[in-house]
Amino acid sequence: MRPQNIIEKKRDGKALSDAEIASFIDGVCTGAWEDYQITALVMAMFINGLTTNEQNVITREMLHSGKVMDFSDIDAPKADKHSTGGVGDKTSLIIAPLAASCGIAVPMISGRGLGHTGGTLDKLESIKGYNVNLSTERFRHVVKSCGFAMTGQTESIAPADKKIYALRDATATVPYIPLIVASIMSKKLAEGLDALILDVKTGLGAFMSRFEDSVKLAEALVMTGKEFGVRTEAVITSMDQPLGQFVGNSHEVYECVKILRNEMSETARETLDLSMDLTARMLVLTGLADDASEARNILRAKHESGEALERFRANIALQGGDPSVCDNPEKLIERDLVVLDLRAESGGYVSAIDALKVGEVVVSLGGGRLKASDDIDPCVGYECVAKIGDSVNEGDILGRVSCRTLDQAAQAEAALRKAYSISSSRAESPALIRDSVG
Ligand code: URA
Repeated sequence: MRPQNIIEKKRDGKALSDAEIASFIDGVCTGAWEDYQITALVMAMFINGLTTNEQNVITREMLHSGKVMDFSDIDAPKADKHSTGGVGDKTSLIIAPLAASCGIAVPMISGRGLGHTGGTLDKLESIKGYNVNLSTERFRHVVKSCGFAMTGQTESIAPADKKIYALRDATATVPYIPLIVASIMSKKLAEGLDALILDVKTGLGAFMSRFEDSVKLAEALVMTGKEFGVRTEAVITSMDQPLGQFVGNSHEVYECVKILRNEMSETARETLDLSMDLTARMLVLTGLADDASEARNILRAKHESGEALERFRANIALQGGDPSVCDNPEKLIERDLVVLDLRAESGGYVSAIDALKVGEVVVSLGGGRLKASDDIDPCVGYECVAKIGDSVNEGDILGRVSCRTLDQAAQAEAALRKAYSISSSRAESPALIRDSVG
């Protein structure tokens, strides 16, 4: 089939046949389609839309453009969690060991941070030696040995998506739900899962800031998961302020280790609460618990006994990292940094913390990247000392910036000031879980 005929058909608003979509994805992988032809078709899809069947066929073809893992030799339910990305969103580091300690196998393929949102792989790499580029065989070995493994998308996982996503990113065609669904689900379905929990963020710091769009994305993701025989549930969660205590790679790992050690500060509690909620849903979906209340009791016991921490320690060792951070999390924090306290200029209640602005500040300090090839500084970060709903007096600490130079600190302070609103009337802490689709 000639690419121009397929492009022409979608340009004219017609639905593509299964064979035409298969030919397109095949052409992406073999190089038979030029980049300009791929982007022309994707733009036509973006403008003229895709039917549910087209969306499912694109997902299927992108999934089968690479390897689909088979963990049938592991006698445990396989499940994973995927988040659409947020600021301070570090729950994977709690959920994976927690779920593994309950008997779930978690083969987690994660991403790097881009723009204001962080990425699990960058966070993990702030543990000295931790390897996020596992071969398929090593990945399988680590999952078998400690119940979970965390690695990056290899060339063999949904290669068509890798190519198309890079072109979408460069041609303003990312924000279209059917393409997002096909992209996310082709990678997640390649993990050979029985169950999948999706954390769709909503609010200023989210990929989809409008609640209605987040619900639509959640519904489409769940429908696709089910279509492919995976028990799937989505939760729409708030990104109206950064999640938990810290933003920034090594600081976020520190927060997670402290949580797993039962030593967390109050500002980190929502990180644990969200992790518990999402893992509880995994337990129910995989049949390891009858309902949310039973699941929570199991999880509380695994957390409090330190079993989840021991899983994390075993995983770090298997992936080449320094497991002693589990005994001494302070090792994760670089001490040779400029630390600046952001103080309230007036008293009242914290009524908003713009997560997008906070994420952008951490990127500007070097803690994130604007383009995929940028290097990052894992040590810089921001601590949210006060959260929405807290009452503060003039001069109280709202947050703490850790960076490399005094200039950076001054610029960060000015930008962060704009992220906070302080009101004289009481403000409620926003509900963490806004909705669920299952
Ligand atoms: N994340 C993905 O992996 N794909 C998209 O299309 C959007 C976000």
